[in-house]
Amino acid sequence: MILRYFNFDQKKRIIILKGHIPEEKIEEVKARANIVDVVSEYVTLKKTGRNFVGLCPFHREKTPSFTVNPEKQIFRCFGCGESGNTISFLMKMNNMSFPEAVRHLAGKLGITIPIRDMSGQEKKIASEREKLGRINQMAAEYFSGNLSSNMGKAARDYLKERGIDDFIVKKFRLGYSREGWRNLKDFFDGEKIPLELVEKAGLIISKGNGKSYYDRFRNRLIFPIMDLNGSIVAFGGRVIDKGEPKYLNSPESPVYIKGKTLYGLYQTKMEISKKNDAIIVEGYLDFLSLWGAGVTNVVATLGTALTKDQVELIRRFSRNVAVIFDPDEAGRHAVERSLQLFLEKEMRARVVILPEDCDPDDYVRRFGGEALEDIISHSPSMIDYYIEKIIGGKGTLEETLDSVKDSVSFIRNISNLVQRNLFIKRVSEKLGVDQEVLKTEVNKKPARYKNLTAKVESHRKEVRKVDMVELNLISIMIQYPEKIPVVVRENTLDFFYSPELKKLGEILVEAFKRGKVKSVSDLVDDLEDDVLKDKILKSMMEQPPLDATIIDKSFLDTIIRIRGKWYKNKREIIQREITKAQGAGNTELSEKLVIEKDKLLKEEMILMNL
Ligand code: UTP
Ligand code: MN
Repeated sequence: MILRYFNFDQKKRIIILKGHIPEEKIEEVKARANIVDVVSEYVTLKKTGRNFVGLCPFHREKTPSFTVNPEKQIFRCFGCGESGNTISFLMKMNNMSFPEAVRHLAGKLGITIPIRDMSGQEKKIASEREKLGRINQMAAEYFSGNLSSNMGKAARDYLKERGIDDFIVKKFRLGYSREGWRNLKDFFDGEKIPLELVEKAGLIISKGNGKSYYDRFRNRLIFPIMDLNGSIVAFGGRVIDKGEPKYLNSPESPVYIKGKTLYGLYQTKMEISKKNDAIIVEGYLDFLSLWGAGVTNVVATLGTALTKDQVELIRRFSRNVAVIFDPDEAGRHAVERSLQLFLEKEMRARVVILPEDCDPDDYVRRFGGEALEDIISHSPSMIDYYIEKIIGGKGTLEETLDSVKDSVSFIRNISNLVQRNLFIKRVSEKLGVDQEVLKTEVNKKPARYKNLTAKVESHRKEVRKVDMVELNLISIMIQYPEKIPVVVRENTLDFFYSPELKKLGEILVEAFKRGKVKSVSDLVDDLEDDVLKDKILKSMMEQPPLDATIIDKSFLDTIIRIRGKWYKNKREIIQREITKAQGAGNTELSEKLVIEKDKLLKEEMILMNL
């Protein structure tokens, strides 16, 4: 039985199936959760009128624009535009999936979501990701057991020599993979876990015919790599003391994408958020060494160039970063590349170059954590560093010309116009090149075509308006579901101009027919278009609750106005066509259109007098 291993509770391993939570449980969780309580765990909220406000956890700000509306159970930041309901808040805040957020909330509310025996259908649904997560978790426990056993003595000694104490070992779940080719493989065999899955997790490697396997990590210190929820997604393995290759890492897998993962962020994200600053290093040991020395707002990239996804991950917790680079050529390139990323994401980045060829671990071991923090607090902004050390500081005319070329192509990639102009000014001062000349150079070729279309696209979305009358009807349908049958009877949704709002209306009607009532915060999950969702939430947030005493009149008004708008628009279209037909001398068509227009007018008269 392939899935037997999901039932071995005898070792107190609770199998958490994150997916397929029963619908009624999701509804119970949603109904009982209070967005103010949930958000308050992350943000200090203050009541102002109908809403609560606080400093936005999704972007850096000094005055609170993050607004939570308890009536509608939604939030929105008027600074950065993030918005959603309780579940989407948790998803964004903790990088959780929908079911993860629901389970998390359920846990807090004391709602038990049954972990049922898996039936045929459920077995199919239980995703590969979850199985791989389980397997990694088991491997981590296995490696950790090795480290504290007799066989782990040399590894423990090496850790001690590197200044890694037991507390760090526990906190970061360090382990040891034994000498030998098949220890881990035999362990999984014994647990009746299909080896193809263990291979997929990257822990064992298949030999030739695919039926025999050997362990990837042998005689190495093991560093589990976690995602933002603390699930182990991969491992790094270091030789004990000297040897080649120094590090082996898990390959990418369905649970592990290198460029989307940062070592240690799971453990340090709150610290980063609190200090509003993240220190980025390259290695496992740099990370652990800094953490051990009390510099706990740290993350590691694991030796690869920083990616956009990684920058976005960090940005959720802080807009400020200090990157510790190597003082060599590779380090200089890294500064240039990552500066572009940081500019793009509007982060404030500083560059830290340590003296005397120290890596962060060396430095902390020699001078202590406080000395490092001191250097970091005096580190130059990445922009200054780039202009002073990379663009500037060159002597000959040729070198200056090279610098101009480099900076021109760099500036072309800055899409924010204010930043672009600032950069142009700074570079022109540094290199003694006339600003206008530099500007002309920069603008010779347009910035990448892709950027341009993206801008046009976003502009197009920007100007799209949410029809307030249609939105008002949706609000009424939410707050007074008993009006929904009237909306259905009068076919009001057919007169909607916004397809998105119409879709929302249809969702409400559908729910009503099934005897359910949807709230604003439910609808957040039904809206796919972010721009529209944001606009809707914004206006719902600003809108006071509808007054019960005038609801009947307001409801009727709204229906009539929606129709009126529709007819007016129709009339205008027909009139334009009539003019066109007349202009073209097509009397037959124009007469037909005039008749149509009359018909429409009569219909309108009748309907508007309802
Ligand atoms: P370093 O060589 O700086 O390693 O590589 P380190 O973390 O400082 O370790 P020690 O102090 O030498 O023991 C930085 C990071 O690059 C990745 C690892 O993630 C390492 O932590 N790396 C390095 C590899 O993946 N493979 C290698 O062979 C070397
Ligand atoms: Mn090192």
